[in-house]
Amino acid sequence: MTIDPVAPGPAGAGGGYGESLFEPWQPGEGERIDLGSLAYDHVTRARLRALGVGPEVRCCDVGAGTGTVARWLATAGGAGEVLAVDRDTRFVDPYAGGALRTLTADITAPDFDPGRFDLVHARFVLMHLPDRHRVMAGLRDLLAPGGCLVLGDPVDLTTAGPPDTPYRRAMRAMWRALGATIGTDISWTPDYPRLLRELGLTGVGAEVFVPALVPDAPITAFWLDTWDRTREAMLATGLVDAGVLDEARAALLSGTVADLSPGLVTAWGRLP
Ligand SMILES: C[S@@+](CC[C@H](N)C(=O)[O-])C[C@H]1O[C@@H](n2cnc3c(N)ncnc32)[C@H](O)[C@@H]1O
Repeated sequence: MTIDPVAPGPAGAGGGYGESLFEPWQPGEGERIDLGSLAYDHVTRARLRALGVGPEVRCCDVGAGTGTVARWLATAGGAGEVLAVDRDTRFVDPYAGGALRTLTADITAPDFDPGRFDLVHARFVLMHLPDRHRVMAGLRDLLAPGGCLVLGDPVDLTTAGPPDTPYRRAMRAMWRALGATIGTDISWTPDYPRLLRELGLTGVGAEVFVPALVPDAPITAFWLDTWDRTREAMLATGLVDAGVLDEARAALLSGTVADLSPGLVTAWGRLP
């Protein structure tokens, strides 16, 4: 059987991210985002450092979530100023102060324009947004000359083909479910370098990091929690039944799981 695992079905029937799934007020939602950050932050930090974060650099972290990247930029990252933007900044607000400010805003709004920055970063955000090309152009327009746009979203190396394990079947159902409910789409993320080039950015680069799905890894706990929050939508895809989802959960909890999680493709480019 061939299933395109990341092609979305009918998109976004349930409202956007944070409306019908992953609402920030749900118990444990901040902790779930933090589990993802634990898996990927070291890669993001290393990349941002390599791209020149440091004193006097004005940064904007878009869709900041719990703010682990924005908080790092404003402290150990040594950035001059950091603006953490999210539709809901409740998780970052307690850390505001010093170099870190927060802004509650919808980045898809046509009038979204919080200023000009030397670094604009968005991780695991554009995957959830409609009209992402327009949003991407809007983020490019936040750059000061010479500024760097750094975008990150998932790539999934495991679900396209065999083996047809419960884990991989659950992942296929999850991507399909996220597409059908909140409009998530990761089918385009390998195109990031070309898309950045088409935005007129130069010095385009990219890298992929894929965490191992092994016992006790934060990413394993992240997917368990994410599946629990999307279980009904996963079942509604018809790609899995409750038995498969229970088997997939059991596999991740088994103490012997060994697979690849979806990874993070990070791509960047500079405004001339
Ligand atoms: C999956 S979380 C990623 C959080 C963080 N960037 C990270 O990598 O840990 C997606 C974040 O984007 C925010 N978001 C989604 N749509 C948004 C929009 N239209 N405007 C602003 N923020 C948005 C959500 O509120 C959420 O905090």
